[in-house]
Amino acid sequence: MVSDTLDIQISKAETSRLPQIDYSNLVFGQNFSDHMLVADYADGQWQNFQILPYGEIKMSPAMSVLHYGQTFFEGLKAYKLADGRVSIFRPNKNAERFNKSAERLCMPQLPEDLFVQSIAALVELDQQWIPDKENHSLYIRPFMFATEAALGVHPSATYKFCVLTCPVGPYFSKYLKVKVETEYARACDGGFGFAKAAGNYAGSMLPAKKAAEEGFDQIIWTDAREHAFVEELGAANIVFVMDGKIVTPSTRDTILKGVTRDSILEIAKSWNVPVEERRVAVAEILDGIKNGKVTEAFGVGTAATITSIAEIGFKGEVYTLPDPAKGEFAAKLRRTLDDIKYGRTEDINNWNY
Ligand code: COI
Repeated sequence: MVSDTLDIQISKAETSRLPQIDYSNLVFGQNFSDHMLVADYADGQWQNFQILPYGEIKMSPAMSVLHYGQTFFEGLKAYKLADGRVSIFRPNKNAERFNKSAERLCMPQLPEDLFVQSIAALVELDQQWIPDKENHSLYIRPFMFATEAALGVHPSATYKFCVLTCPVGPYFSKYLKVKVETEYARACDGGFGFAKAAGNYAGSMLPAKKAAEEGFDQIIWTDAREHAFVEELGAANIVFVMDGKIVTPSTRDTILKGVTRDSILEIAKSWNVPVEERRVAVAEILDGIKNGKVTEAFGVGTAATITSIAEIGFKGEVYTLPDPAKGEFAAKLRRTLDDIKYGRTEDINNWNY
């Protein structure tokens, strides 16, 4: 047990499924570890924290999440450190964002220490599942959903908090060809694009499917009003290297406050590289690629880590970036972040929990 304060009831799986997993061929989000954490919110408080064998959960077909979508999630990772210890990367940042999502979706807050302790207890129990390999980790998926069996449109009175974990390798296996979206929008002013609401991802599926049919791997989301400003890249934040500076859209109510985004900006600032968080016009990026000012572009996220963009499509034209294999910033940021995550360098910011 990790916590003195949080009482978690633990029922262990009789046998581990670990020997059945092919670690040389991990598909993202398809191999769940032996256990999961579940807790209930009822009568105004969180209760009944349990770690159980991973498995199905009972639910009513009238459960309000199925009808009105009160649900959101988080994504973070645990790593095997060079000295054999286990670390979870910046879980407090995810706890903070978890509660921002909860607030926007009118769902209960989960105290940060309960979020972190729940995850730590689960990771501790299933630590054998953490891959011991570069670019690999244990992906942690906490989520909350409304459980009241009621069809009235009002916030549910009851909720479940769950955490699943799965061993993962790289999310993307190649440099990306992406499309600037000029028809659909992911989020709008006053909406909930900053929250990890399931609905944001549901709304992205059709545009992503259409983009894939046109030969693109991902979408660059733009503002809903004019499609003139860059917002995100698929399910990740987006960063450009322009004139030797790091430039990225500033976070607002349409943009997710990514933990990887925050980490790489901190690292760049520590190198005295100028960092600009501001509105980024699509035209500025396309012109910058043409005139050589934009030298690198990459997606940054927990699942994506740092994934470089090779080509950007806009209204039928394709803009080719310099060879990402020679992208110095992306490579240096990736190396530095990995050295911290895998415990190969001093963790001066205390990011490893
Ligand atoms: C994450 O990076 O954790 C994400 O949210 C991406 C996920 C939707 C695959």
